[in-house]
Amino acid sequence: MNRFLKLIIYLLSLYFLCIFILNVSFQNTTWNWETTNTDNIAYPDDFLWGTATAAHQVEGGHTNNNWFWWESQKDEHGQNRILNNDKSGIAVDQWNRYPEDIKLMKELGTNSYRFSLSWSKIMPQPMVFDTIALQHYSDLIDSLLNNNIEPNITLHHFEEPLWFMEIGGFEKEENINYFLSFSEKVMKTYGKKVTYWTTFNEPNVFINEGYYAGYFPPGKKDARTAGTVLGNILKAHVKTYQMAKQLNYNSDLKIGIVMSIFLFEPSNRINLIDWIGTYLADDAFNKTILRFLETGAYRYLVLPYGQPIKFLDENATKSIDFIGVNYYSHLAVNMNPLNPVESLQPVKGEELAEMGRYTIYPDGIYDAIKMTSKLKVPIYITENGIGDSKDIHRGPFIKRSLFAISEAIKNGYDIRGFYYWSLLDNFEWCLGYSQKFGLYEVNLETQERTLREGSKEFQNTVLRFSNKKIQN
Ligand code: FCB
Repeated sequence: MNRFLKLIIYLLSLYFLCIFILNVSFQNTTWNWETTNTDNIAYPDDFLWGTATAAHQVEGGHTNNNWFWWESQKDEHGQNRILNNDKSGIAVDQWNRYPEDIKLMKELGTNSYRFSLSWSKIMPQPMVFDTIALQHYSDLIDSLLNNNIEPNITLHHFEEPLWFMEIGGFEKEENINYFLSFSEKVMKTYGKKVTYWTTFNEPNVFINEGYYAGYFPPGKKDARTAGTVLGNILKAHVKTYQMAKQLNYNSDLKIGIVMSIFLFEPSNRINLIDWIGTYLADDAFNKTILRFLETGAYRYLVLPYGQPIKFLDENATKSIDFIGVNYYSHLAVNMNPLNPVESLQPVKGEELAEMGRYTIYPDGIYDAIKMTSKLKVPIYITENGIGDSKDIHRGPFIKRSLFAISEAIKNGYDIRGFYYWSLLDNFEWCLGYSQKFGLYEVNLETQERTLREGSKEFQNTVLRFSNKKIQN
């Protein structure tokens, strides 16, 4: 055999050995849902059962924030930024209808509610606080507590005052101070009553959509800016945590951050390039934040090329009392080195979720939990749900997700709560009102709320395990 042939055989063997090791080492946790008894679940007595929403998506009346501006913008092809040119408008009018919505929470049996404060309503101009908005949230919090529903507040859920965006938002490190002032004000105002606080919702989605892919405001498409914004958001998180602990208005206070965990896998499991793409996608989307919280080291890969952005924040390792996990699905990486955004595709052979970007894959919540458990803090599933206008998949999706979480608890993972996304149909960002994530369907003409059939899987499970008495 000539030398050249030997070399080829050697390299091919090496390649397939690598592929073999990767395939054996990275396996997904899955179940055969046809044969699994999904009724066989157990949850602790003190588990938090809740639903989740975000201010801009449900409240209505946002006329002074980044999204309000975005809703009237067009992209480079002259297309409206929001599908069907929808406007958030009065949304599902939760600003006025929250007493009615609290009744729905009770009907479900839930004992917690995750919602966000509107920064733009509370701080309409730099360092100016609006007393009506502050009073509104105070009333909402009191009503929740009077109904034995634990508030879980998010400070930043994709929504920023317009003035903040106009001065460069989190692209500039010095702007963090505005966020700190807002956080200090609301924590001082509500801190004695509210135990659970989240600083940021899904910073990874926020920067990918807003600064990398350009689908969210401010619509930039620049990896370096995305990495800078994420770095500043994480610094803001750490500072907010420290400030809240120093204020010490509530000894039970728990502060965390909420991450979107998407699982990635190679589109072709015998293609090494797809494996490399999977590593990069996972690193940029999930691991950048997890690594920062675990070690204090920030390293953002500027994809597809470019020097990574790096810094060290030693305080980061002590900056969370819990981690919030938002889990929806997984994605296949069909690596296109020149266009990483285009590399992500729905996994083949599985049913597409109505949103069209990913498939229905409840199993993955188990691996999302496993990934975040490395932080060694309690885990709350802060979002999980499915957009399903025909209400065909919702029931089984809920049942399977709750089974997978119960298995994780059984296997020792410290999961303390579950929040379904969402209580109500709402304004799904650039997809407008097209997506139906609500346990309750909302008639947008009459604002009437109706419990969907599939949502009863959630209601029945909550009523089975929640130890709180349901009061009418
Ligand atoms: C999450 C967001 C939430 C909602 C769901 C469907 O990424 O946090 O506001 O849009 O997706």
